[in-house]
Amino acid sequence: MKNPVQKFVLFGATGDLSQRMVWPSLYHLCREKLVPPTLTFVASARHPNTDAEFRKFVDGALRKHVPAEFLKEDAVADLLTRITYAPFEAGDGTARGTEALQKALAGNNRILYFMATSPKFYGPTCLSLAAAGLACEHCRVVLEKPIGHDYASSVEINEAVGQVFHEDRIFRIDHYLGKEAVQNLLALRFANSLFEPLWKASAIDNVQITVAETVGLEGRTGYYDESGALRDMVQNHMLQLVALVAMEPPHLFEPNEVRNEKTKVLRSLRPFSAATVGANTVRGQYSAGSSGGVAAPGYNEEKGAKGGSETETFVALRAEIDNWRWAGVPFYLRTGKRMQSRRTDIAIQFKSVPHNIFAADEPNLQANRLVIHLQPQESVTLEILSKQPGLEGVRLREMPLELSLPKDESGGRTRIAYERLLLDVLKGNTTLFVRRDEVEAAWHWIDGIQTSWRSTRQLVKPYPAGTWGPTAAIALTERHGHSWYE
Ligand code: BG6
Repeated sequence: MKNPVQKFVLFGATGDLSQRMVWPSLYHLCREKLVPPTLTFVASARHPNTDAEFRKFVDGALRKHVPAEFLKEDAVADLLTRITYAPFEAGDGTARGTEALQKALAGNNRILYFMATSPKFYGPTCLSLAAAGLACEHCRVVLEKPIGHDYASSVEINEAVGQVFHEDRIFRIDHYLGKEAVQNLLALRFANSLFEPLWKASAIDNVQITVAETVGLEGRTGYYDESGALRDMVQNHMLQLVALVAMEPPHLFEPNEVRNEKTKVLRSLRPFSAATVGANTVRGQYSAGSSGGVAAPGYNEEKGAKGGSETETFVALRAEIDNWRWAGVPFYLRTGKRMQSRRTDIAIQFKSVPHNIFAADEPNLQANRLVIHLQPQESVTLEILSKQPGLEGVRLREMPLELSLPKDESGGRTRIAYERLLLDVLKGNTTLFVRRDEVEAAWHWIDGIQTSWRSTRQLVKPYPAGTWGPTAAIALTERHGHSWYE
């Protein structure tokens, strides 16, 4: 790397995201020597800690979150010795701890700041860094989602951060863009001429994106109750997937070219209104049921729940993109907590053949489907119909063609999406990061749904934990002659 980053500062270094994702990702990158040995880390959080205490904390997090077969004592020790601790509190414009940061960062001018804190601190933290002379010209800042909780708050955050860092030094992370299968979607679409002529309304019947989780709140009650599934998953991860599926081929695989095309899609999403929201969206909330064979409480009985909350833990919606390529093609999105199984996929459902010549033997020909599986396995399959071998005439059989390589080069390990994205930040490549106008366009569309839900008083429909959500979600597709890909 030319002019490598010297210091990686992690704000919110003791938080859940840092423990589960950031420290383990940094561990793997150091262990595999994918980052320069000169890169060192400054961990920052509100509470006082000595370096030794904090290293012990990271050691514990790694032992909990890195699978045992990848825990190498020398690699753990190497990462730990590269970490120092500097307490910092952004507050509301009255930062405490900038002296400790100044001391820890003295003599460095290529610094990367990763904000794994609540978004309300992004602006104040950046402004404090600038005031302390720490927002150097070559510094970069990584912002974790969510960028605010609606359009207005996202603008406020973007304005404040933008006063300190130029847009090409701001990396708004969406970890879905670091998933192998998502990047493979780009390769499939833009490195092959096969799909492009079919990638439009004349050949595609509908697109479905499912992000189903079996977990419940995982101790994040406070955050989640304010957020709900629409803001937590649809505004960011799912709309990013929509944008990648629907975007026009960019002129170059270059940050602004790719992001221009994604932004156009987000701006073309048809807004919801009080008149359309009821028929095209479903809000759900899990009630008591079971998850993985174990009894699971309802949302309002979860530890720390306030009770009587109307926050949605499930959303299904039928979106439309108003442009020439996609006019008339529904994009069905659904996401939920405490669903029957963990599954994330994008299913591109092609149209049926215009006339079935096998009608006598095979009245219900399945149409082709391209499925990008993101979780639990990462793969891409194209479902086609093929002749059943044998002498019994043309009997058809569904055949999934595997379109992805079996394993990556990482010794069979499924990488944490953050590993790829952190490497891109270190290289200064913003292609797979979300630009300001994308975030704001996404919030604008989401605000339309929230406002319409409020004005029509659309209530959450209960679904037992461990199921596929409220039955209304099935009706949402069936009304239009479609059904969810299972
Ligand atoms: C996060 C959400 O952004 O993504 C969580 O805040 C969710 O609620 C998580 O569980 C899902 O990520 P993944 O990679 O497990 O699908």
